[in-house]
Amino acid sequence: MTSLSGKRLLLGLTGGIAAYKAAALARLFVKAGIDVRVVMTEAACRFITPVTMQALSGQPVYTDLWDARVRDNMAHIELSRDRDLILVAPASADFMAKLANGEANDLLSTLCLARRIPLAVAPAMNVEMWENAATVRNVARLREDGIILMGPAAGDQACGETGMGRMLEPEELFEAVAALLGPRLLKGKKVLVTAGPTYEPIDTVRGITNQSSGKMGYAVAQAAIEAGAEVTLVSGPTALATPAGAVRMDVRSAREMHDAVMARAKASDIFIAVAAVADYHVVGEKSHKIKRGTGNLFIELAPNPDILATVAALKKPPFCVGFAAETENLRANAQAKRKHKKIPLLAANLAQEAFGRDDNALTLFDDKGQHELKRAAKIAIARQLIAHIAGMLKKR
Ligand code: CTP
Repeated sequence: MTSLSGKRLLLGLTGGIAAYKAAALARLFVKAGIDVRVVMTEAACRFITPVTMQALSGQPVYTDLWDARVRDNMAHIELSRDRDLILVAPASADFMAKLANGEANDLLSTLCLARRIPLAVAPAMNVEMWENAATVRNVARLREDGIILMGPAAGDQACGETGMGRMLEPEELFEAVAALLGPRLLKGKKVLVTAGPTYEPIDTVRGITNQSSGKMGYAVAQAAIEAGAEVTLVSGPTALATPAGAVRMDVRSAREMHDAVMARAKASDIFIAVAAVADYHVVGEKSHKIKRGTGNLFIELAPNPDILATVAALKKPPFCVGFAAETENLRANAQAKRKHKKIPLLAANLAQEAFGRDDNALTLFDDKGQHELKRAAKIAIARQLIAHIAGMLKKR
């Protein structure tokens, strides 16, 4: 028995070379006790046979809108009614365009349109197709419509090109589905997350910032949403899409971030400070563009408020989690930072191995000692962090 036993999934396959990975994916689901019903488009059947999917899922596979096996010829309605989730993997560019436009001209697209349950898609396509303006538009629409996007990832593609558009690996998709269907570890909790860099203006066009991409903070927000939390994401400047379901507040400077956080901290159950906050701001920011001169130019910096320490010092603080990006002496610096900021949990990583990347490895420091989260995709690491936080909260 796993926590996923008895969950019911509708796995949709569309036409793409990544369809072969859907076979391994179906196996993982079945092994975890999930009831998997497979629906394939005509194009998907050109890449992998329904017989394969039937053998792996242990159930009949559906491909036809007019399938007479389903009650009253209502396959497009009936097949999703007893399910908990639809996952389309692989989701082709064409299928995503259909979804974005509400088209329903085959069994799978009709099922998606007639559904009452959450829909997740795992895009799989050539990098140029993924980056095409039409796909970019469609993806934005899918997000707006509350459809969950799982991936894609960057890397080598079957066509020989390299770039974004590769479908996530079966194990990664399995974990993403497990997070959606598994126990809601933070149900009803209010979670406040900071993410990204801050930007400290020098004048109207220049500023001081850092190399944080925001990916880790956004992954933490996403994992908290999956765990059933109500999430507010206070974000410095990033180019990332807001995780579906999060309330996002955009800020620029550390002081703006401080104000946004302090306005919400007291009403939060958990505060996770992932942002790479600038420790200093520029004194006397100029309201015009500084002109080139001949001599040296000096910039005076004054300390910024420590947002995390300020929240942790509240009379009734939320459960506070800090991040530490160190470049050396990870353990000693992280433990010192946890004690100094008086927080129950600190997640530490090496800056040079985390910034801007899609994966990360973390060491968690708490009263019990230290726990290693092995290198994995940031979202996978974020889910483990959320599970750790939920475990600590339960014991309180
Ligand atoms: N943090 C914060 N406000 C600040 C600085 C940091 O909330 N002004 C938070 C970060 O979001 C992170 C943690 O504190 O969760 C650690 O940040 P870090 O910059 O690594 O620690 P500092 O205390 O600034 O120490 P140092 O830069 O000297 O390593």
